[in-house]
Amino acid sequence: MIISIILAAGEGTRMKSKYSKVTQRLLNRPMVDYVLDASKKAGVEKNIMIVGRNKEMVMELFEGEDISYKEQKIGAEYPYGTGYAVSLAVDEIKDDDDVLILNGDIPLLSSYSIEKFINYHKENKNIGSILTAIIDDPTNYGRIIKNDEGQLIKIVEHKDANEEELKICEFNSGVYLFRGGDLKESLGMIKSDNEQGEMYITDIIGILSEAGKKIGTFLLDDVTEVYGINSKDQLSEAEEVLRARVNREYMKNGVFMENPSNIFIEPGVEIGIDTKIYSGAKILGKTIIGEDCIIDGASTIIDSVIEDEVVINRSVVEHSHISKNATIGPFAHLRPNADIGKNVHIGNFVEVKNAKMGENTKAGHLSYIGDADLGKDINIGCGSIFVNFDGKDKFRSTVKDGAFIGSNSNIIAPVVIEEDAFIAAGTSVTKNVDKGSLYITRAKEVKVADWVYIKNKKSK
Ligand code: UD1
Ligand code: CA
Repeated sequence: MIISIILAAGEGTRMKSKYSKVTQRLLNRPMVDYVLDASKKAGVEKNIMIVGRNKEMVMELFEGEDISYKEQKIGAEYPYGTGYAVSLAVDEIKDDDDVLILNGDIPLLSSYSIEKFINYHKENKNIGSILTAIIDDPTNYGRIIKNDEGQLIKIVEHKDANEEELKICEFNSGVYLFRGGDLKESLGMIKSDNEQGEMYITDIIGILSEAGKKIGTFLLDDVTEVYGINSKDQLSEAEEVLRARVNREYMKNGVFMENPSNIFIEPGVEIGIDTKIYSGAKILGKTIIGEDCIIDGASTIIDSVIEDEVVINRSVVEHSHISKNATIGPFAHLRPNADIGKNVHIGNFVEVKNAKMGENTKAGHLSYIGDADLGKDINIGCGSIFVNFDGKDKFRSTVKDGAFIGSNSNIIAPVVIEEDAFIAAGTSVTKNVDKGSLYITRAKEVKVADWVYIKNKKSK
């Protein structure tokens, strides 16, 4: 059986963050999520994760996933290092298992490369294999040390390397495969007599090599796949690589993108062909977008379903459903549970929350539509407010097909406005309105000639 050990317990001090390094996000997904995903897609049957102070946070992230957790205690009284972290999983490893070790901070590695690496390891019947790559500036990476015959003999960490070793550009990616029995045996032999006083997993290579066991390197062509993320600048650099990779895939599948380096789409979002996404758009979560849509720049869409031919212009859409041919924005905000019907228009500075709007209904300007059920063909005049909250409780209102809500009206919930009713501008609706009737509340106007001049004791 192939099992994986994902190392995620490190302190991540170089990230300079209050939050765990492996939970820092790339395209809105925690980096360790990519690692787990790649491991599973590569066919690994059992995933073990080593967690530290971030235990709760990581377990919350992966709620419901089949992961076996091992807790690494962190503190001066405990050993530290990748070798120690791996040793915490020994009771899960059988002698004839193949153990894939993955650093939790290499989010760009594809399942395809892991599969190739596994094949290499198996075909060569290796006891130990390391995934390596070559980079111009290998600062901070462990160096791959080979003898004159090109045979791998050990890995030397950057901080422990001598001048000659520092010149080597082939580096350790932090991805290894070991035969279970040999791994367990060698883990007991790791020491911490190095510059950082840590137990390094990389020492296993030297130990196996000295014992004459078959070990080897598998060189990956694309070095970007094994970028290790230790700091915020590396996080941003990796996100750029990932963004390009993800966006290229959408474009290949028929999505138009303007300035894709400034379009942020979380992997897993679905987008139909001929949809146009403009510079500055952010599309996150479990979002599905249909065909022939236009998502103008500076729009953010989260966990929403957008049907075909929808136009969203500089707006925020969260946990909502937008039906075919609706137009949203500019500057609209659809908050959770906005259910927008076909051909609906939602215009400038309109906020919709937990409300249904039927086909052809329009709210063009400056409105709040919260906790309401609106039918078809309704016009919501500029500045109309659905007053849904009395300071303690929320209430719902209903507006039925064909009603007209004049500008600057307050619909004070709970009320029902029946079909074709006409609410005059400036009205506060506090009672139900009958079908086809006019409803108007307006104070009688008062006109006082020359009031201003009289008040200010000024002549006209
Ligand atoms: C490690 C490798 C280095 C390699 C590089 C690739 C070692 C000693 N060095 O260095 O050869 O080139 O990755 O990116 O392994 N972790 C734990 N417990 C610990 C320490 C770390 O779980 O006690 C986890 C971290 O959360 C992280 C991973 O192990 O996900 C790697 O640790 P990190 O400190 O980033 O190692 P590097 O110095 O990058
Ligand atoms: Ca690292």
